[in-house]
Amino acid sequence: MPPADAISSLRMLLVDDDPASLHLLERFVETEGFEVATARNAEEAERIALELQPHLVITDIILPGKDGFALLARFKEKLPQTEVMLLTGHASVERAVEAIRDGACDYIEKPVNRSRLIASLRKARQQIALRLENLDLRERLTAQAREMLVGQSAAIEGVRRTIGRVAGGNMSVFIAGESGTGKEIAAEMLHRLGARAREPLVKVSCAAIPENLLESEMFGYEKGAFTGASQAKAGKFEMAHRGTLFLDEIGEMNPGLQAKLLRVLQDGQFTRLGGNEVRSVDVRVVSATNVEVEKAIGAGKFREDLFYRLNVVHLRMPSLREHLDDVPLLAAHFLGLLRRKLNIEKLEISSEALKLLQSHSWPGNVRELANAMERATALRRGSTLETSDFALGAESVPKTPAFTEKQLVIELGTPLEAVEDRMIRAALAACGGDKEKAAAMLGISARTIYRKLGEG
Ligand SMILES: Nc1ncnc2c1ncn2[C@@H]1O[C@H](COP(=O)(O)OP(=O)(O)OP(=O)(O)O)[C@@H](O)[C@H]1O
Ligand SMILES: [Mg+2]
Repeated sequence: MPPADAISSLRMLLVDDDPASLHLLERFVETEGFEVATARNAEEAERIALELQPHLVITDIILPGKDGFALLARFKEKLPQTEVMLLTGHASVERAVEAIRDGACDYIEKPVNRSRLIASLRKARQQIALRLENLDLRERLTAQAREMLVGQSAAIEGVRRTIGRVAGGNMSVFIAGESGTGKEIAAEMLHRLGARAREPLVKVSCAAIPENLLESEMFGYEKGAFTGASQAKAGKFEMAHRGTLFLDEIGEMNPGLQAKLLRVLQDGQFTRLGGNEVRSVDVRVVSATNVEVEKAIGAGKFREDLFYRLNVVHLRMPSLREHLDDVPLLAAHFLGLLRRKLNIEKLEISSEALKLLQSHSWPGNVRELANAMERATALRRGSTLETSDFALGAESVPKTPAFTEKQLVIELGTPLEAVEDRMIRAALAACGGDKEKAAAMLGISARTIYRKLGEG
């Protein structure tokens, strides 16, 4: 339904085959600020309604041809946002009450009493306003969900397009991609842009939970299923009923559990731990992993038939290296988040620093970028993040801290100031933060360290 910008632009359709009665109704409602159209029978009413998309229809029950009840059913089907009010003779009050159950917003007995009609109109108007508000809210939530993934590169646009295309369906989606590429965001978007948005999104991290607990976590248990199970508990599958279940790091799931998961995916049925009752759920499954499942399948660690079920739609999140052109947008996004989080008014980034960020390889992807921005913000000297605030070289070789190897990897072209900065920080880290020791290691005085770090 086209939105009504103001409550005064609400549209109403009056349906009655008796011209005098129609005219009277028109006069009754004219003070209520609706844009009013009229129709003499159900066919005409349908035609006009499809065109006008009225917020409210008031129809007589007795019409030539199709009656008011039939019209109500048609509108509920074709224009679900339209409220329908029925005019009824004394004899059909009982059926009119039933019509309320079928979705009519109210009924009014004929002959129509003006103040009764106006009271009912105002009630309907409140309902319509609420509906429009909800609609508006939903549109805003949808728009917000679309914006969760920052980036305008072809790679990100492609991801956004795929999500938009499949969110509405029920197919299982498998999200692949390196760590920190936004897999969890993609899963959330799939949920929020889909038909299940108002139902729960339940997340299970298959890696964070010890193997033996994961099964009870996912499928629940009955009282006495194991020592300590003093009460029955529903699992994540049940909690996600009608909604979405996000199985994160699915590559880490053990084979026994993979078999049980496969069964639920095949027929929607499972039993709780220690229980016999077969339960069924309606759940959309979205899963993600940063390990190469194909390899895990090859090594016999992941069931191919399960992967086949999970991977109905395959969504691959690009590594940040593949969309470095999004770095400025992402940096601006994180600056905004940091400004809000730290409650600082001015926080910018120099164009040189931005260039440095765009030339980095980002093994930790967007998460690493977010962390680098946060760290640089903590280290900044002014309101602008400079190249020297980023210690990127060391970051690009994670898990092999340069200082334990007694080496720092520094890319050619790194500004001297940044080299110095990183050398000092690496020395400090290697000495557990002891500035005297670090100074001795670097052959400078502790005072120089304080000065260089802007603390002196
Ligand atoms: N395109 C993006 N736009 C905005 N923020 C992003 C984007 N991609 C990732 N992020 C942010 O980066 C961080 C990591 O994202 P997320 O948790 O979705 O990654 P992941 O792929 O699930 O990683 P992992 O495999 O390590 O779990 C989050 O803070 C997320 O908000
Ligand atoms: Mg994740």
